[in-house]
Amino acid sequence: MKHPASIDEEIELKNNVYIESDTDLKGIITYANDYFAEISGYAPEELIGQPHSIVRHPDMPKILFKILWERLQSGHNFIAAVKNLAKDGRYYWVFTDFEPIKDDAGKTVGYKAARKKISKHVTQTLDPLYKKLTALEQKGGMEASEAYLNEALSSHGIESVDTLLEEIHKLY
Ligand SMILES: Cc1cc2nc3c(=O)[nH]c(=O)nc-3n(C[C@H](O)[C@H](O)[C@H](O)COP(=O)(O)O)c2cc1C
Repeated sequence: MKHPASIDEEIELKNNVYIESDTDLKGIITYANDYFAEISGYAPEELIGQPHSIVRHPDMPKILFKILWERLQSGHNFIAAVKNLAKDGRYYWVFTDFEPIKDDAGKTVGYKAARKKISKHVTQTLDPLYKKLTALEQKGGMEASEAYLNEALSSHGIESVDTLLEEIHKLY
């Protein structure tokens, strides 16, 4: 898919309004709420049927999406700060809660995500980290970014991404 060229300009989000979407098992968008359309700059009919990577920003490290898919495909949720790309090339940062949609029998039938505004304090810390991970991936692939991420976590006494997520959940 062809992405718009990114420009270094941020879109300001409203407080307490969620950007919501659902996908099928392959990450194809099946539902987009009005705020998703408004902020991304795409009409809902331009979003439905497209892969969710339509809003993927080039600053986002691949390793994050690898972890996301591993979590979702094993039936777990995932929370992450994501920098997304709008149709006009601007970006917006979102605190995102991803989770599987399960049927009555507990079988995963799709996925959903709800996103809200994130504080500047957090994005200012994460922006250089994500750019660092992306740069490592360009040179040494995902192995390089994964090693860096694991090292960063263990230097903070955190065993794994799963441990980190469990800690975050306790804060809710
Ligand atoms: C429910 C759901 C929501 C997603 N939302 C986003 C999103 O907002 N931005 C994004 O870049 N990727 C999102 N993804 C991940 C994409 O499917 C994809 O893995 C990612 O954009 C990386 O694209 P690539 O694998 O083609 O490199 C979402 C996936 C799911 C299942």
